[in-house]
Amino acid sequence: METTLNLTSKMPGTGTTIFSVMSALANEYGAVNLAQGFPDFNCPQKLIELVNHYMQQGKNQYAPMPGVPELRKKIAEKNLKCYGTQFDWQSEVTVVGGATLALFCAISAVVKENDEVIVIEPAYDSYIPAITLNGGKPVFSKLKYPSFQIDWEEIKKLINFRTRAILINSPHNPCGTVLSADDMRQLERLTENTDIVVISDEVYEHILFDGLKHQSACMYPGLVTRSFIISSFGKTYHNTGWKMGYVLAPEKLTAEFRKIYQYVAFSTSTPVQYAFADFLEDEAHYLALPKFYEQKRDFFRNLIAGSRFNVLPCAGSYFQLLGYDKISQDDDYSLAVRLTRENKIAGVPISVFYHDKTDNRVLRFCFAKNEETLTKAAEILCSL
Ligand SMILES: Cc1ncc(COP(=O)(O)O)c(C=O)c1O
Repeated sequence: METTLNLTSKMPGTGTTIFSVMSALANEYGAVNLAQGFPDFNCPQKLIELVNHYMQQGKNQYAPMPGVPELRKKIAEKNLKCYGTQFDWQSEVTVVGGATLALFCAISAVVKENDEVIVIEPAYDSYIPAITLNGGKPVFSKLKYPSFQIDWEEIKKLINFRTRAILINSPHNPCGTVLSADDMRQLERLTENTDIVVISDEVYEHILFDGLKHQSACMYPGLVTRSFIISSFGKTYHNTGWKMGYVLAPEKLTAEFRKIYQYVAFSTSTPVQYAFADFLEDEAHYLALPKFYEQKRDFFRNLIAGSRFNVLPCAGSYFQLLGYDKISQDDDYSLAVRLTRENKIAGVPISVFYHDKTDNRVLRFCFAKNEETLTKAAEILCSL
């Protein structure tokens, strides 16, 4: 439909996210879709039954703004069990409609005009728009290539009196790296005696491999008092489409967060919250998750070991990076599109996670898929 409105875009350089673009392309060309990060298997049946149960029980009206108390109490208990840190369920735990929304509200809660926010790239694509829409200025540090480790010396140089926040993400999308205790201590040291807020994106907190332990910002005394910790049930319970997550933060930060969240969403699905409150009781699901995904990682990596791709290390998350230097000299975006169209395999080019489109000739493939899908994908990848 045509409009005669004179509109000036608030986000002129922004198009559709790469995940939607690649998924649409994968559908159009009937490609095996390892592009978007979602499982192609179902979430636990019990969880579906619980949502159904609470719908039948009439839990179908607005939940309290910060989430139903039953769930907030369970989240606080789970966090204590996992990381030994007690958050007050009333004033420090907020249930939200997914991590993307949480990131947007957390950034909006603290970033003002001309504030600087340190973004470590490659970075999840929702961070920068949230910063710039709030008048903030993203300041970039690249993960070292090819190890994808944080360059703490560089971060140190970027910190100044305008630095309002720093965003970290572990386990990391798209790189599959995880932050070590030493990384967290470096961040603790660098932010000591500053007013820097840490926004810690921990949506893959239960997907770490080879015995590695997740280093939540809440485990570090110098970080827990300055952090928004953001998690997503979608990643842990195989239901990304339910868009359910939560935020842990000290009372003062939580209060500012809720001022924004109440006008962005007010609250999120009531029956789903009750269902999670019951389901969280059982630790078995999330305790089994590292092995569950480790098997998928190993299955996929073994199948593609004989390919011409450079299979980069993967310590956590459900993403495998593949370098394609030996296969093509195309830029990663063109190659991702060509592979989808011609070879029927969809991945994500890593350059889209950099503001300056840094291209290391690496593609990201999601292995949160059943073995049949991974086998089909691997056959194609091995044929290239
Ligand atoms: C690093 C990272 N943060 C946040 C999100 C968003 O999570 P949600 O689906 O709960 O909004 C994702 C989803 O892919 C992610 O990979």
